[in-house]
Amino acid sequence: MKRWIAVLLTAMLAIMLQARATAESDNEISNFNRYADYTPQAAEPVGLIPGENHRTLVVWFSRVGNTVFDPDVDVVSSATLNRGEEGALLGNAQMIAGWIAEETGADRFLIQTAYTYPSDYHQTVQVGEGQDIDFVDLELAAHLEDVSGYDTVWLVSPIWHYTVCTPLRAFLEEADLSGKTIYVMTTHCGSRFADTVEKIQQMQPNATVIQGVAVSGNNPTNFESDVRAFVQGTMQ
Ligand SMILES: Cc1cc2nc3c(=O)[nH]c(=O)nc-3n(C[C@H](O)[C@H](O)[C@H](O)COP(=O)(O)O)c2cc1C
Repeated sequence: MKRWIAVLLTAMLAIMLQARATAESDNEISNFNRYADYTPQAAEPVGLIPGENHRTLVVWFSRVGNTVFDPDVDVVSSATLNRGEEGALLGNAQMIAGWIAEETGADRFLIQTAYTYPSDYHQTVQVGEGQDIDFVDLELAAHLEDVSGYDTVWLVSPIWHYTVCTPLRAFLEEADLSGKTIYVMTTHCGSRFADTVEKIQQMQPNATVIQGVAVSGNNPTNFESDVRAFVQGTMQ
């Protein structure tokens, strides 16, 4: 009899935990699809991509890597998309992060939210701005296990809604970058750095936060030599 009661209680606990997990993920999905009519997908985490220089880390957030794009997405009217080698989509922040990693040999880490943003640019603006206005607490799909070995961290991200984009805020809330030098690189359509340098300094009070290069999202490749020169200047 006692054995059957134990089995029943275990089954009830499993059902309750499952219901709670489902409720939590429904709540997280609603942080995306309450702002635009689309179907967010659960992200597939990439995690840390090792380079040969483990003292330097490049962290970036970009639409590419956080979006399931329609196969026929319009690169021109989507405003922030490029085609890389062999036609693969390339985000602006992703491209800048790639230049920095080539110069430094650094480890790389893509910030990924638990769910994806819409393929449509204008819907993404609605979602990103809604998340900022509501100050949502986003769940990330991938987490850095240990940052103690890094002395320099490059943060590369788009300006969203005139400030630090919500996924970067979520990353900065969970990572402790105390004692490190942080270089702030942005990509934007007019806001340049907005208040990102000040906000990042507020969120990481024990780091040295330095303004880097603001790259126009409309013609990012025009800034490649500026970015590479800035990075080289920090290594002399
Ligand atoms: C949600 C959202 C909000 C944006 N808000 C701003 C803004 O306030 N100021 C600005 O200059 N650009 C804004 N942009 C434009 C992006 O910063 C710009 O297109 C950037 O290059 C995109 O980088 P990515 O391709 O790496 O995602 C916004 C874009 C999105 C998707």
